[in-house]
Amino acid sequence: MLISLISAKGSPGVTTTTLAVASRWSRPAVVVDADPLSGDMLAGVGAGRIPAAANLMELMVAARTVGMADALADQLVRPGGEHCPPFVPGLGAPGQAAGLAWEKLAAGLTSVPWADVLADCGRYGTAPTPLPMLMHSELVVLLVGSCLRSVRAAQRSVPVIRAELTRAGGVADHLVAVVVDPGQPYGQSEIAEALELPVIAWLPHDPPTAAVWSDGADPGRGFARSPLQRAAAHLAAQLMSLATQRQAWLDGSRSRTPPDVPAQAGLVGLVPGGEWPVIPAPTTPANGMRRSRSEGGS
Ligand SMILES: Nc1ncnc2c1ncn2[C@@H]1O[C@H](COP(=O)(O)OP(=O)(O)O)[C@@H](O)[C@H]1O
Ligand SMILES: [Mg+2]
Repeated sequence: MLISLISAKGSPGVTTTTLAVASRWSRPAVVVDADPLSGDMLAGVGAGRIPAAANLMELMVAARTVGMADALADQLVRPGGEHCPPFVPGLGAPGQAAGLAWEKLAAGLTSVPWADVLADCGRYGTAPTPLPMLMHSELVVLLVGSCLRSVRAAQRSVPVIRAELTRAGGVADHLVAVVVDPGQPYGQSEIAEALELPVIAWLPHDPPTAAVWSDGADPGRGFARSPLQRAAAHLAAQLMSLATQRQAWLDGSRSRTPPDVPAQAGLVGLVPGGEWPVIPAPTTPANGMRRSRSEGGS
């Protein structure tokens, strides 16, 4: 199973969230630092403790001879201690992304039998997004903040992501949103409505816990019960359930066209037990953000 996470401009936390969710995954999980602008995890959660010998480029070289499943096992590092999920460090420099065989990487990662893969695909729009990663994923998670700037940026990005996926021959029915720090001022349903995407979960603003994942801070005693870790456990369960549903749906329906479920703007969470809710591209241009709170400007 492959799940990719991307963030919208102005939304912090794709690296933090990917690691936090993987740390609470109920099956064996590995993280791949696939940020096209270069990887942050060795210097971040790894705090520079180990040299950058293993990385995405080495993974591709090794996969050519031993196959992706074995190569992945060889390239994993776990510098951050027991709380830290194993990960493959990312690219050493931004330009390297252009030379990476993303299609081979993504296809290989979906077929790893011994672990689920959570990929940090970086910020959408700052560098060419690795589309094959998004196309091969069971789910693509877009992280969005709740301030106007962040929601607007995400609102503009969603149709572009959908169009890119469609143009590349894929489908865009597997894009879901997660709100980081809702209520600043927008809530989950307003954001779902603005993005025309299901918002499946939210994450709290929790700087001390986030610093464990982004900067290798000491987890400390209350780490496992911290707000971010608890929310990450909930998100992990949601993602596992949705990705499993989608996998089953895909397995049973590769030859038929997806069910035509009407757009469910404003939906928070997907319909449990129902058909995979395909979310068609918006048929009308998205309206501006609806303001339901008086604070925050004119
Ligand atoms: N849920 C959160 N609560 C508080 N701070 C966060 C949260 N997620 C991320 N951060 C902080 O935001 C900054 C950027 O996080 P990072 O995960 O590196 O983002 P990205 O990978 O999107 O650039 C870091 O300082 C990190 O500690
Ligand atoms: Mg990052």
